[in-house]
Amino acid sequence: MTSAAISHLPTEASVRPAEPCTIVIFGAAGDLTKRLLMPALYNLAHSNLLPEEFAIVGVAHTMMSQDDFRSKLSRDIREFATVAVEDQLWERLEQRLYYLSGEFQDANTYHQLQDLLTQIDQECGTQGNYLFYLATSANFFCDIVAQLGAAKLTQEDDKHWRRVIIEKPFGHDLASARALNKGISTVLKESQVYRIDHYLGKETVQNILVFRFGNGLFEPLWNREHIDHIQITVAETVGVEGRGNFYEGTGAVRDMMQNHLFQLLAMTAMEPPISFEADAVRDEKSKLLKSIVPLTPEAVLHNAVHGQYGAGSVKDTEVPAYRSEPRVAPDSTTETYVALKLNIDNWRWAGVPFYLRTGKRLPKRLTEISIQFKQVPSLLFRQMSIDSLTPNFLTIRIQPEEGIHLQFGAKVPGPAIKIDPVEMDFCYANYFGMAPSTGYETLLYDCMIGDATLFQRADNVELGWSVVTPILDAWAATPPQTFPNYAAGTWGPKAADELLQKEGRRWRVHQ
Ligand code: BG6
Repeated sequence: MTSAAISHLPTEASVRPAEPCTIVIFGAAGDLTKRLLMPALYNLAHSNLLPEEFAIVGVAHTMMSQDDFRSKLSRDIREFATVAVEDQLWERLEQRLYYLSGEFQDANTYHQLQDLLTQIDQECGTQGNYLFYLATSANFFCDIVAQLGAAKLTQEDDKHWRRVIIEKPFGHDLASARALNKGISTVLKESQVYRIDHYLGKETVQNILVFRFGNGLFEPLWNREHIDHIQITVAETVGVEGRGNFYEGTGAVRDMMQNHLFQLLAMTAMEPPISFEADAVRDEKSKLLKSIVPLTPEAVLHNAVHGQYGAGSVKDTEVPAYRSEPRVAPDSTTETYVALKLNIDNWRWAGVPFYLRTGKRLPKRLTEISIQFKQVPSLLFRQMSIDSLTPNFLTIRIQPEEGIHLQFGAKVPGPAIKIDPVEMDFCYANYFGMAPSTGYETLLYDCMIGDATLFQRADNVELGWSVVTPILDAWAATPPQTFPNYAAGTWGPKAADELLQKEGRRWRVHQ
């Protein structure tokens, strides 16, 4: 299922190659291009979803000839492709690679780009449709958009489109996100802007909407009458992977919570949209984010936990403390873990807590949404210990081992009434045999066909920031004295367990 399938509900046969176009990647010499974008474009070519009239232009400040660029990407694709590379297919793609070296802030770069794009339109028949992908450091976003505008490269007309994909981080806090949106909007219409969150490219994330709104079984139960609480966990085993410099000024709230976890939250809790058109879906996401009860500094103390890993062992390998990672301050107070309790003040969810957590160097890589239903009145089972009456859980496993699991109680065979929790399991790989993908395929294809459903609108991003900014401010005002407060390879600080324990609950995955 592609998101095109979600938004326009086409038949499988109507999913066609995108329209002729050129993709211009700013920051093409960097990691994102080799690890994710090129493998995703290769997979799209493999699925016949790229048009015949197609080209890719890499722009970066690294001095490199076009031939060097082609050879570099030919080596990289063999390392990072998610499938075995077919030489013939790659060669066809390779012939459409162009390279321009230049400074992002220099108007001259854009004049050269203009000439190159005109040349490519003639050589490859790309018809003046351009997708600009900003895979650079966030400092350049505004300048690149302004320069593209000044060079008239963003002007659309009836015959051709111009779109811009902007990578995360989109802003650093509410004020900077607003400033970035404002700067961009002086050049681009909102319909030209595609703010990416790669979690929305994951099949299992897109499936949340299909699961909720395409089945009659669960949606009637999806509310405060039947649900006790919801947990969202995004656990990583990796540390900062040589990105200490970036992560120091970022931390888990900005890197993961404000974007990836809030997208999962919105997909899980939003109202049914009136259609699967982009704005209908994004309107509902905004309404949901707006209903999150803002945390006062006092509430931050009780409902938000942050942590930083110390040295420890992950999957039997000794790993250093965050403060000992390269390019991290020895007294850093950057959080590598965060857990929040959020309340959503609307008709459906009033009184149902949402617990969200994410952290690095946890024992397992796992992303899941777990819905705990309310207990039955236990009159019939009075004699049984309370522990054996486990509630029903529905767990949406986003990754790895993608699937959906329902836990319910069953009678253990035998003369006595004894209840044990058992599971019904749906596993994607068993049903559909998951084709390995990067998650960027859907997003790139959707942008090429002009479907913004899986991209964040300006208001979505700002609403996310308005929820986390008071938390960041409160933490900045009272820097933590106890960091590091969890050992690598454990499930985070004790306070995160207490966040649930004080309400008689516990994290579903905790050992
Ligand atoms: C990125 C973050 O957005 O998402 C990384 O910057 C994080 O720090 C990554 O590791 C996680 O993505 P995934 O798809 O591996 O869960």
